[in-house]
Amino acid sequence: MEQTRTLTPRTAVIWAVLRAELDRRTGDQLTVLDVGGGTGGFAVPLAEAGHRVTVVDASPDALAALTRRAAEAGVADRVRAIQGDGDALAGLVEPAAVDLVLCHSVLEVVDDPVPVVAALAAALRPGGAASVLVAGRAAAVLTRAMNGHLDVAAALAADPAGSAGPRDTLRRRYDADGAAALLAAAGLVVEEIHGVRVLADLLPAAVADGQPAALVELERALAARPPYRDLAAQLHLFARRPA
Ligand SMILES: C[S@@+](CC[C@H](N)C(=O)[O-])C[C@H]1O[C@@H](n2cnc3c(N)ncnc32)[C@H](O)[C@@H]1O
Repeated sequence: MEQTRTLTPRTAVIWAVLRAELDRRTGDQLTVLDVGGGTGGFAVPLAEAGHRVTVVDASPDALAALTRRAAEAGVADRVRAIQGDGDALAGLVEPAAVDLVLCHSVLEVVDDPVPVVAALAAALRPGGAASVLVAGRAAAVLTRAMNGHLDVAAALAADPAGSAGPRDTLRRRYDADGAAALLAAAGLVVEEIHGVRVLADLLPAAVADGQPAALVELERALAARPPYRDLAAQLHLFARRPA
């Protein structure tokens, strides 16, 4: 997988977790499902690493970009694009057929995350793994407050779902316990939780752009450690369907 894609504060921690799983399965061609995989930021590098990836996404434009990107990377034969709604995932994919399912930045926007997570779990073979990325509630409260939007911060902190109301772009945000409970309720065993972008969004651009390698290193050092983890813009959960 191309290093420059993997070494950003947005992706480095997630790729480190995924790489460990790929290394554990070295030699196997994995069947991967990326729900809400968009333009293929994860799907294409996974296909480049030799795996077969199906992307289910609601957006035809995103899927068109995915298809172009896969063709440019020479992996069109290993990437399948399916237009569909994550809320109806159960009807789109075969049960118990997937080694690795990704669901990144999608549970915040679907109608109901409970059946989506149940469908992710059902798509996995026993022993298969799920990589789930969700928006963190604490970071959203802090950044709104730091930007002077105290009313929005208060609404976000008070709302049980972690949304600031109808004008919020996200319908919900999570803390680590809530996200882990959501996956556990679907029968998945949560193995790791990391914070993604603990610092990246808080730093002046000159610092983030001026010291990118140091920032990635610090993000990786803090990602698994509460309280830093719990203040991250996103939470990454790695879970497994019991064998
Ligand atoms: C923020 S993007 C994330 C893309 C990719 N997972 C990533 O992490 O780079 C969210 C993606 O989810 C898709 N999406 C949103 N709602 C969806 C739904 N109900 N079912 C399937 N895909 C959905 C959007 O089209 C978009 O491509």
